[in-house]
Amino acid sequence: MPIGNNIPFAIELLNSNKLVAIPTETVYGLAANAFNENAVLSIYKTKNRPQFNPLIIHSNRIERFEDWGLSIPTDAKLLANHFWPGPITFIIPATNIIPEIVTAGTGAVAIRVPNHPITLELLSKLNFPLAAPSANPSGYISPTSAKHVEQQLGNKIDYILDGGICKVGVESTIVSFLEDEPKILRFGGLAIEAIENILNKKLTIILSNDKIVAPGMLTKHYAPIHPLKIVENISESIQLFDKNRVGVISFYESIVGVPIENQFVLSKTKDLNEAASNLFAAMRNVDELDVDIILAEKFPNIELGYAINDRLKRASIQED
Ligand code: TXA
Ligand code: MG
Repeated sequence: MPIGNNIPFAIELLNSNKLVAIPTETVYGLAANAFNENAVLSIYKTKNRPQFNPLIIHSNRIERFEDWGLSIPTDAKLLANHFWPGPITFIIPATNIIPEIVTAGTGAVAIRVPNHPITLELLSKLNFPLAAPSANPSGYISPTSAKHVEQQLGNKIDYILDGGICKVGVESTIVSFLEDEPKILRFGGLAIEAIENILNKKLTIILSNDKIVAPGMLTKHYAPIHPLKIVENISESIQLFDKNRVGVISFYESIVGVPIENQFVLSKTKDLNEAASNLFAAMRNVDELDVDIILAEKFPNIELGYAINDRLKRASIQED
């Protein structure tokens, strides 16, 4: 029974330092007891993830992180009050209670309260936080359904807790509080505008979560099998190709002349949230087509458009 909604069984496994894939509103996570080094080590092994890339720890309430001795900066608390449970992660100074394998020796830890009823219930019944990266092999697209997890990691983990399709569909927005001013380290499921609005200031954006990763890792991220090209106007760019041999990811309109089964329109109503929630499944599906190239439309750089463009850009970078 690798997939199901048996919370007591998931608890039993996690208490025995086993791995369980868990649903969140962003993407599925590959979870283990964050306070147990061996449990965390098996996350890295299962994902084939380099150990210098630290993990986010998850719990069900901000107070629990404080009970574990972490001190949460005022601005982070303010954001947590507005957006937790939700798709935003804070990087704050770590303490000795967090094993170095979780922080990758950075002295900082990433914390998040995810917004999914099953996982919130699970977390409330555990005496430890869950370390959980996205539940995909390192370098691949994050899973937004239990089935995605099963396809890539099914034979390597004991249980997949099925919470349906992830509503947000892209990973959490990461904000670092290690310096005087908060900085955005990853575009994600919470719009930057919403964060700036609460803090009442513009934030610096340093996509430095990529810098932690060794050179070359970024180029592998989200790598599809087919070449993927981001274009301003698909209808124009497509003139250069055989329309029957192109896969398309577009925002709200389908492209005349391209076979309908080769097209993935992310939101017919032009809704960036809906587009984000459909993005990863579309990226998986388009890559299964027998085509020569994938053309993806550049999204507007507002709200979740930043995260969509970021993930498409990673997918467009080909390995050497
Ligand atoms: O939505 C999400 O954030 C999902 C769900 C499962 O919560 N998790 C997720 O984890 O996307 P992962 O490991 O795939 O991405 C976490 C990112 C990585 O880029 C990592 O480098 C960064 O967070 N990160 C984690 N701890 C950090 C730290 N102490 N300092 C800087 N970056 C950190
Ligand atoms: Mg990931």
